[in-house]
Amino acid sequence: MTNLDENDLRRALSNFATGVCLVTTLKDHVPLAITINSFSSVSLDPPLVLWCIQNELSICDAFVNCDRFWINVLGELQVGLSDIYSQEGKNNLDLEHIDNKDPEMPLIKDALVQFACKNDRTISCGDHTIIIGRLCEIYFDDQANRPLLFHRGSYASLDHSS
Ligand SMILES: Cc1cc2nc3c(=O)[nH]c(=O)nc-3n(C[C@H](O)[C@H](O)[C@H](O)COP(=O)(O)O)c2cc1C
Repeated sequence: MTNLDENDLRRALSNFATGVCLVTTLKDHVPLAITINSFSSVSLDPPLVLWCIQNELSICDAFVNCDRFWINVLGELQVGLSDIYSQEGKNNLDLEHIDNKDPEMPLIKDALVQFACKNDRTISCGDHTIIIGRLCEIYFDDQANRPLLFHRGSYASLDHSS
């Protein structure tokens, strides 16, 4: 038991500004996506990253047991995608949102960076599971748009003067 109030905890944690990503995978050749902001780098050598998924989500098992997944960092113009794939039950990835419309390689069109990962290990941790990925390929464009940010429960962008 903890004496921390859950709402206070959420509010306090939301002061930590993050980027927003869509994580995609394949289940029985069907591309799936989820909006997340728990992405973090872990190690350069070997190249490892992590993100966390709520155990209660209907698609949790698909991600925990997948062999490969893709982390797509969203740009400031991609709020619409973040909204779609954070809705309950809306995890089937629309072909229109995939680069080259190739469902076997669910890279999100116009993402700032796309990380192709092999599922390295998972760690059950409280009400979430940490999914650690080993980076296999990276696709990015230095000239890309600014990132989409998430801060105190709202989307934000970088100041254009920065
Ligand atoms: C900006 C943002 C960040 C999110 N980050 C995470 C996250 O890191 N991990 C997670 O499990 N859910 C996160 N969510 C919530 C999931 O996107 C949402 O619960 C999920 O898509 C619903 O899937 P379901 O159909 O399985 O219920 C986030 C939502 C938003 C809007």
